[in-house]
Amino acid sequence: MKFFVDTANIDEIRELADTGLLDGVTTNPSLIAKTGRNFLEVVAEICEVVKGPVSAEVAATDFETMLAEGRKLAGIAENIAVKVPLTRDGLKTCKVLSESGTMVNVTLCFSANQAILAAKAGATFISPFVGRLDDLATDGMHLIDDICQIYDNYVDFETEVLVASIRSPMHIVNAAKIGAHVVTVPPAVLWSLFNHPLTDKGLAAFLSDWEKTGQSIL
Ligand code: E4P
Repeated sequence: MKFFVDTANIDEIRELADTGLLDGVTTNPSLIAKTGRNFLEVVAEICEVVKGPVSAEVAATDFETMLAEGRKLAGIAENIAVKVPLTRDGLKTCKVLSESGTMVNVTLCFSANQAILAAKAGATFISPFVGRLDDLATDGMHLIDDICQIYDNYVDFETEVLVASIRSPMHIVNAAKIGAHVVTVPPAVLWSLFNHPLTDKGLAAFLSDWEKTGQSIL
């Protein structure tokens, strides 16, 4: 399972990249707005820090402009995945960009049928939003299960399921049980995965006993 971080904050990205466990980054216009920085500059910086796929989203909604924006974004670095919304024009853009060898992340997916269309359009990633479905009292993880099952039925579907809008560690466990390829996770949730009170308690006891031995390893 690949771990992407869902942020455009370069400091948070650097810190997580330092763990050696980060496989990619997803940004969206809201996350870019939060940084208060120039979009193209931030994305270029992120691509320097993380060598895996870095999603950068188009801002247009019509095919011609989306394609032009997508090509410009793809020109920033080889590891850019152009993010397009799951609309008719978005999927048209996805098909053209994918055929020219650009990675494409199709975002704002809320149904299995949309995911089928994205796979047919050659998307590198499909991003179903689990948290936003959960917010509407609809089981977001059920959608992940459906999409993974459907994709497994067709060898020519090479699209990876990128579980987005993650809100809690249980989303990650459940996505992993289903076998989703990627999770994109807010930094705080990613950091929380390291923690367990029994790890802290056990380590404190081991260190205290080790001190009693009076030994040192180095
Ligand atoms: C990732 O690609 C999405 O933009 C992101 O996960 C959306 O998360 P949110 O629903 O918490 O805004």
